[in-house]
Amino acid sequence: MCGIVGAAAQRDIVPILIEGLRRLEYRGYDSCGVAVLADGEPRRARSVARVADLDVQVRKAHLDGVTGIAHTRWATHGAPVTHNAHPIFSRGTVALVHNGIIENFVSLRDTLRGKGYEFVTQTDTEVITHLIHSVYQGDLFAAVRKAVQQLHGAYAIAVMHKDQPHTVVGARRGSPLVVGLGKGENFLASDTLALANSTDRFIFLEDGDVCELTLERVRIADRDGHDAGREVRTVAACGCAVELGPYRHFMQKEIFEQPCAIRDTIAKAGSLDSPLFDKVAGKVFSKIDSVLILACGTSYYSGLTAKYWFESIAKIPTQVEVASEYRYRDSVPNPRSLVVVISQSGETADTLAALEHAQSLGHKHTLAICNVAASAIVRLTKLAFLTEAGREIGVASTKAFTTQLVALFLLAATLGKLRGYVDSTLEATYIRQLQDLPAALSAVLALEPQIIAWAGEFARKENVLFLGRGLHYPIALEGALKLKEISYIHAEAYPAGELKHGPLALVTGAMPVVTVAPNDRLIEKLKSNMQEVRARGGELYVFADADTRIVNDEGLHVIRMPENYGLLSPILHVVPLQLLAYHTACVRGTDVDKPRNLAKSVTVE
Ligand code: F6R
Repeated sequence: MCGIVGAAAQRDIVPILIEGLRRLEYRGYDSCGVAVLADGEPRRARSVARVADLDVQVRKAHLDGVTGIAHTRWATHGAPVTHNAHPIFSRGTVALVHNGIIENFVSLRDTLRGKGYEFVTQTDTEVITHLIHSVYQGDLFAAVRKAVQQLHGAYAIAVMHKDQPHTVVGARRGSPLVVGLGKGENFLASDTLALANSTDRFIFLEDGDVCELTLERVRIADRDGHDAGREVRTVAACGCAVELGPYRHFMQKEIFEQPCAIRDTIAKAGSLDSPLFDKVAGKVFSKIDSVLILACGTSYYSGLTAKYWFESIAKIPTQVEVASEYRYRDSVPNPRSLVVVISQSGETADTLAALEHAQSLGHKHTLAICNVAASAIVRLTKLAFLTEAGREIGVASTKAFTTQLVALFLLAATLGKLRGYVDSTLEATYIRQLQDLPAALSAVLALEPQIIAWAGEFARKENVLFLGRGLHYPIALEGALKLKEISYIHAEAYPAGELKHGPLALVTGAMPVVTVAPNDRLIEKLKSNMQEVRARGGELYVFADADTRIVNDEGLHVIRMPENYGLLSPILHVVPLQLLAYHTACVRGTDVDKPRNLAKSVTVE
């Protein structure tokens, strides 16, 4: 979702801004722009194409300067056309970029119109720009502090004023913003990756903060206007993560990185003990009697899978909620619940808001499972487990999902041990299975050529049904989500037992039915569900464990997985579904890493 970069330096900062935007491309965007203060005036270039096109434009226009702001826009208010792209100007004086949504923009716009401001965009952002202009009295920092008090909604902004040539002011509430500290230069960005080539020293702004960057100084005021002494953190540069290497897309690279990501994630788990989740986790775990999981999208599906593990391994009642629903519904809080928030980015607005909502209801026992150490979600929870997936660039989540599953399995087994359901023999078995997972995953990845052969068929279809049962129903859901988001083929997932209660009406030879078929205790039931499809002329594409004895037949296409992997089987079974979605999208020629309308980091509601 929208990305921000800003800089005040003594050298031409346009290359830094463009490089920063390139590094933010993975978040998803539909237009981009950059503005600098040059000869006392703000000048800008904007594009509805890629950052590469913007780069060509700025070179042609010889746009350079020592103070600047830049933006990748993911449209919320107003179409993705050039005049709505940021930076947005007010009367040729103030230039501003914004990530977030201003909920009261209509009333603010009416008031500002009454004061003579002319609106030339359909964005909510333009009201912030004019508002700052309207309250400016020679001090941009003061003007921004005054203006943001009138805003309802979420924002991260970076602003410049033509009369303050070496100053960039930033502010955040709800949307992320970090300050990067350099020598004689300072930066602002939506995340640390954007500045990986410029600095490794960062300040993570908190909600309500307003900051002022000049060449030598960074000043931060908190929501009450007091000087905020925020911690400076060193974040190792991870520039290598943006290299594609021998792969065609980041999604493919990330699918193949899963054995390594899982090995790194379990490296710290020599035994199943609470310190894995923080040194105070033992105390917290001893007080809980249930689990409440909050997440969105793919992370929600990892939570759904975990519910099966929590209830079967640790015998602890578990509820899983879509964060955007939970945050607004009336619920009955149980203060003895462990609230587990799952998020790859750690910045998802709905998940953050759901966590804050849970806390406001009195939930104190909170745990984040997250892939980004310095994220808002990790900062807000009491306990945290960091997955070691490495930076995920492809919008469609793959290695973050499987590492979340590993983390959740570790949590279920740790709680199971604490509650007396996992003895030392079982603990050793779980640990061995986890350690063997990377090799088992590599064997599944070797199925890629067979999956490519299926992808040609799938690419011609408009609808696909996914079936799974029990622990593998959430995997069917995840397979359907992967396919729809990157290939734009309509896909739905059902627990196979539900087929006869409605979706069977859709089954014809034109709609492939993908079936996740592990050799677990439901396999015979699943085989009956498959018969229901075949009897209606449906075409089944089955990922079957080697020991299921499901073999190719008319209307029945089978890819043989390794032998059943017990409770950890979902982690293996999701991988061929990722590959199927990926190769189907490749055949259809979609923009796999940046599918239309989607963003990597969903920082607005
Ligand atoms: C789908 C996908 C999304 C995210 C969701 C939550 O492939 O990536 O559904 O899972 O937007 O994002 P995080 O995990 O960053 O909170």
